[in-house]
Amino acid sequence: MAKVKHEAAWYPLESGETVLDGLLRQGVNVSHSCRAGACQSCLMRAVEGNVPAAAQVGLKDTLRARNYFLACACRLPDGEALEVAGVWELRMPARIVSLTPLSGDVLSVRLETEGALDYRAGQYVTLLRADGLARSYSLASLPRERTLELHVRLIPGGAMSGWLATEAKPGERVEVQGPAGDCFYVPGQPEAPLLLAGTGTGLAPLYGIVRDALEAGHTGPILLFHGAREPGGLYAVDALRELAARHPNLRYRPCVLS
Ligand SMILES: Cc1cc2nc3c(=O)[nH]c(=O)nc-3n(C[C@H](O)[C@H](O)[C@H](O)COP(=O)(O)OP(=O)(O)OC[C@H]3O[C@@H](n4cnc5c(N)ncnc54)[C@H](O)[C@@H]3O)c2cc1C
Ligand code: FES
Repeated sequence: MAKVKHEAAWYPLESGETVLDGLLRQGVNVSHSCRAGACQSCLMRAVEGNVPAAAQVGLKDTLRARNYFLACACRLPDGEALEVAGVWELRMPARIVSLTPLSGDVLSVRLETEGALDYRAGQYVTLLRADGLARSYSLASLPRERTLELHVRLIPGGAMSGWLATEAKPGERVEVQGPAGDCFYVPGQPEAPLLLAGTGTGLAPLYGIVRDALEAGHTGPILLFHGAREPGGLYAVDALRELAARHPNLRYRPCVLS
């Protein structure tokens, strides 16, 4: 049997169980969301013991070198022991500045972090509520802006999106972890064609990337598709039309299914 030490207590893991599942099963409050290695909200750091390589897939080299790992992807061989710590050092205090509807079911959430967050337009962060609830959101803002902007789709019964839509108020304290993600504009080929396509809030990272590319002086053709099931699912239409009017190399194509 493998075991994991968290905040001075040892917890046994069932055979094949992940560190995240084992800790949650035994009542430990661990931030998490996708449980599939995609959002990094379950990030932990090993202070003693061996981290399996599979638990570090997708992490930046700097995080890997310092023994950070994803608890939802960490399965220990029988007999192994791992001591883990939280990742408070990777989190930045922030406060909600504004909550503004962009469409019937998408909210613009603006956050002010306590220090400057070093990120590239198009990356994502994990937003943490005071009780540890964590969800990841793409950054729609540019690093030069004073606040971070997230585009949050309201999910019926959604813990985080529901809270943001109905309870959270400007001034509310939260935390931001990250950034993460490799989807951003890389300068150096200003004449290359760019194809950007997303549906729903998949527009959020593209909204940052397209403006980043244009501000960096990209002259090649940029084609931006934003898809939605129905016209009400589109948002930021006026802003993107206005951007395209100012930049002849940008073609913006909102698309609806019906
Ligand atoms: C890297 C990354 C980037 C992301 N970026 C964004 C973003 O920019 N904007 C954004 O709105 N979301 C984004 N998400 C999704 C986001 O992290 C949350 O999963 C989402 O907001 C739902 O959280 P919730 O707490 O409101 O709902 P939950 O309480 O987690 O879920 C409530 C119920 O809704 C279901 N559900 C969850 N998500 C969906 C969905 N998309 N469609 C239908 N049913 C669903 C769940 O299975 C559950 O039954 C991103 C996720 C990842 C991993
Ligand atoms: S819970 Fe999303 S990466 Fe682990």
